Amino acid sequence: MNNHNFLMENNARHMWHPMAHPAESLISPPRIITSSHGVRITDIDGHTTVDAVGGLWNVNLGYSCDAVKQAITDQLNDLPYYSTFRGASNDKVIELSFMLKDFFADDGLSRAFFTSGGSDSVEICLRLARQYHKLRGEAGRVKFLSLKKGYHGTHTGGASVNGNANFRTPYEPLLPGCFQIPAPYTYRNPFNESDPERLADLCLRALDDEIAFQGPQTIAAFIMEPILGAGGVIPPHKSFMPGVRDLCSQYGILLIADEVITGFGRTGSWTGSRHWHVQPDLMSTAKAITTGYFPFGCTMISDAIADVFEQDPSSDGMIGSGYTYSGHPVGAAAAVACLKETLRLNVPENAATRGQQLFDGLTALSHKHDLIGDVRGGHGLMCGLELVSDRENKTPASKEQVERIQSIAYREGAMVRVSGANILMSPPLIISSTEIDIILAALDSAFTET
Ligand SMILES: Cc1ncc(COP(=O)(O)O)c(C=O)c1O
Repeated sequence: MNNHNFLMENNARHMWHPMAHPAESLISPPRIITSSHGVRITDIDGHTTVDAVGGLWNVNLGYSCDAVKQAITDQLNDLPYYSTFRGASNDKVIELSFMLKDFFADDGLSRAFFTSGGSDSVEICLRLARQYHKLRGEAGRVKFLSLKKGYHGTHTGGASVNGNANFRTPYEPLLPGCFQIPAPYTYRNPFNESDPERLADLCLRALDDEIAFQGPQTIAAFIMEPILGAGGVIPPHKSFMPGVRDLCSQYGILLIADEVITGFGRTGSWTGSRHWHVQPDLMSTAKAITTGYFPFGCTMISDAIADVFEQDPSSDGMIGSGYTYSGHPVGAAAAVACLKETLRLNVPENAATRGQQLFDGLTALSHKHDLIGDVRGGHGLMCGLELVSDRENKTPASKEQVERIQSIAYREGAMVRVSGANILMSPPLIISSTEIDIILAALDSAFTET
């Protein structure tokens, strides 16, 4: 049996894939990606495409970033692992925390807590929020508010604040005390409001109403993505996140910015919070912190929260959270190299320009193809197409239709992502104009054939 046959025969046979039905994977096995270069990936049959998914919103520097690869190799030789639990540290994680303090200064965040990925970072935010209130004598602040359509990973805390039933229902009951308000999603919302500014205002009023209903003194934090990602790429009106910030400040509720996708340049700004001129109290990051080459994440903490913990005279400020891989030296080395490259290349600039090109191109496609019900983006390199079989009634396109679009686009040279009736795109931030054109041409062919 040659390697090709072995891989084809065993594909999805002995493993379950995340976010996939095991039975379906057996019938329709996933694509096997075997190599990559620049912003392109190649599958087992030698077919190469532009990766419009950017791995999973994370390979911001593309697949050929030698600086990060070298840093990982060197670190594996120097110190492949050591714990950062109480009493130990490593050189790379100290260097990284110093760099992150500078990087996030404009967001008002100065302390780092390292994790193994995005779900961990979210979980740490939720836990620190409750602990912060307890330390300040407000132990009753335990609830969390969030947005419908939001995605905050799949740990139980994160799933409890998620706003998509697919990630909740099979695992219920989740954490008590988590409540979702409508998202500023102009295409579909309970207010039937398509004007982004008016909708933002209505959602803020719903938040205000929910806070009053729950009782502000019971709420620990509000968590949101500055631009909703996995929920379908939903950029809110520019008034929305500042409005949330104001309400949180007014009621003593912490604002957690989940920047697992939007951190490190994807929106065309260095962070999503900065994109909307907001300073959160806590921020979850991961993904692009190592451009996807090593599983790593970081929760960033504001000065005000840091003060409460660092000035705590009791033992209650002890952080009873942590992961074996918190501050992993190889991850930290990757992140140091990645951050240097990210800054050197000034990636938000290209993200903004190429993001606009992609958004304009998708908008032009929507004038040509009726299957496209809504085009979302215009803020860096995150774009979404919501597909409908009937524009008038906004009937969601069938699974077969959406998968057919993806499959033809792949054949024509672009890997795009399917999420429900949405086609999502989040290519590496170093993508060129020609490569954006390849994505657009592949999608054009796909819509023409479907
Ligand atoms: C906004 C957001 N938060 C959290 C997560 C979870 O991150 P991870 O998959 O690394 O656990 C994701 C993953 O896509 C995300 O998009």
